[in-house]
Amino acid sequence: MCGIVGYIGDKQAYPILVNGLKRLEYRGYDSAGIALLNKEVNIFKKKGKVSDLEKHVAKDDVSGNIGIGHTRWATHGEPNDLNAHPHASMNGHFVLIHNGIIENYSRLKDKLTDRGYKFQTETDTEVLANLIEYIYLKGNVSAEIAVRLALSKVVGAYGLAIMCKDEPDKLIAARKGSPLVIGVGEGEYYIASDATPIVEHTKSVIYLNDDDVAILGSDGLTLKTIKNDNLTPKIQKIDLDIGEIEKNGFDHFMLKEIFEQPRSILDTFRGRVSIDKNEIHLGGLHAIFPKLIDAKRIIIIGCGTSWHAGLVGEYLIEDLARIPVEVEYASEFRYRNPVINEDDIVIAISQSGETADTLAAIKLAKQAGATVLGICNVVGSSIPRETDAGVYTHAGPEIGVASTKAFTAQVTVLIMIAMALGYEKKAITPENYKELIADLHDIPAKIEKILTYNDQYLKVGNLYKDATNFLYLGRGYLFPVALEGALKLKEISYIHAEGYPAAEMKHGPIALIDEKMPVVVVATKDKSYEKIVSNIQEVKARKGIVIAIVNEGDTVIRNMADHVLEIPECKEELSALLTVIPLQLLSYHIAVLRNCNVDQPRNLAKSVTVE
Ligand code: G6P
Repeated sequence: MCGIVGYIGDKQAYPILVNGLKRLEYRGYDSAGIALLNKEVNIFKKKGKVSDLEKHVAKDDVSGNIGIGHTRWATHGEPNDLNAHPHASMNGHFVLIHNGIIENYSRLKDKLTDRGYKFQTETDTEVLANLIEYIYLKGNVSAEIAVRLALSKVVGAYGLAIMCKDEPDKLIAARKGSPLVIGVGEGEYYIASDATPIVEHTKSVIYLNDDDVAILGSDGLTLKTIKNDNLTPKIQKIDLDIGEIEKNGFDHFMLKEIFEQPRSILDTFRGRVSIDKNEIHLGGLHAIFPKLIDAKRIIIIGCGTSWHAGLVGEYLIEDLARIPVEVEYASEFRYRNPVINEDDIVIAISQSGETADTLAAIKLAKQAGATVLGICNVVGSSIPRETDAGVYTHAGPEIGVASTKAFTAQVTVLIMIAMALGYEKKAITPENYKELIADLHDIPAKIEKILTYNDQYLKVGNLYKDATNFLYLGRGYLFPVALEGALKLKEISYIHAEGYPAAEMKHGPIALIDEKMPVVVVATKDKSYEKIVSNIQEVKARKGIVIAIVNEGDTVIRNMADHVLEIPECKEELSALLTVIPLQLLSYHIAVLRNCNVDQPRNLAKSVTVE
């Protein structure tokens, strides 16, 4: 949510910043801006995409070796040129960009107004710029001291990049609650919200922790806390290839990421599941595995698609390991005074590892004494650093705002956890365990096959692209898949869609069914197959249009449904991994046919770092 990029060094900053903003545009895209320090500070900002900003500055002088850039997802103040970042302080000494929310901005604003400060914008960020400047001028202190003192008065979350006109050889970065990474090059430094804008320049990075302040200058890097305690920077090497953050010939990142799933699932279980030795080894859980086995209860928390993966996890862990599981929206869990016991295991699922509600829920669970595990995709992000143990999904960078390969990678990790627990607890038979391992190995090839049917999804999408409502139904493991299918469609095509457990249809949604209502039924062969066949008949009896996801050769449903989309068979515990693929592609095609911006749907952001 909001992307930050900064540069200080010998190179021209502008191209580095613009390119970096394009990499970060998935975090927010309602406006963009850049400030360059070249004797004077030049600020350029524009409502809209980074490409609109580029057009806006086309004829301007954009030289300078120091600069900061921002792509915004609005919280305080509507998206317009004025509210776009960077924001300058009233007397022009400071310019800054900000990701997060200053919660006490209104009180600070009143105080600054009493002291003569005037405000140009509705943003909380301008308040911070003025607060820093006020302390700087009143206390006659250095920019660094002014920043640290100002931040000690701030309540809220921030990732900040700050320039001071009077100290033109310095960039200051600070973090609390919103991620920041420093790239360390040869005599140059980069600042970014995540490593994607940095990777093409350097592989050496420092992840800032909460309350860290980094001062980057021609004389090197100083890292300290807001309270002025010196810290030793820990430089890490990032394992990220530039090809992973490019579209590589696909029209959209989302399509590329859907097609990457055979590989991303394989990468997630490779080295962890051995078909030869018939074993599962999850190194990240090794130390706490005995606690997991003895858990009386597991609570899974997450948001959005990650919450849907958590629901699949509930079915898996209860089914295979016989441990009671509850799945909670992190945003509800953190505020509803939940009962948490010291012997509870909390599993937090997050692609980005930065979702504010999930992070806050983790902190709550830890305070209550629970053991917290993370299932995250972004290495070095905040959640893996907050949790007691965890398993990374190896899905690679996910840039499309609508999550696809992260979901299947999360489900893959949950399958491995459930199987490993089930085996240790002797809740599954050795034969079943062996079959599941073999079936998991076959999943990537089966997805490859599903992807070859892409034209069919396009054809069906074309028929229903103008529908105003869609219903998605599934039972058992396929109920969360129905939810995820509906979420994908509404996120990127703006068609209203509901996901429902198929049996619940008769308690409400059935009233909506008529000859204009497409109903997507996820109906592969499992223990509820007969039941879902009856649900299809109920839809057809009311003239609804049935698009059914079925196993190859299913003639029963073929004779009832308007359209069938076939997929290979697998064990039902793994069925979410296959059945979600046609739903992802159906949504994708409908969104493209409706001329929607698939990778950057309106109002959404990839990483939601505000609550
Ligand atoms: C946003 C994204 C979703 C994602 C959700 C949770 O809403 O647009 O795709 O599922 O956040 O994000 P996380 O990074 O915690 O999985």
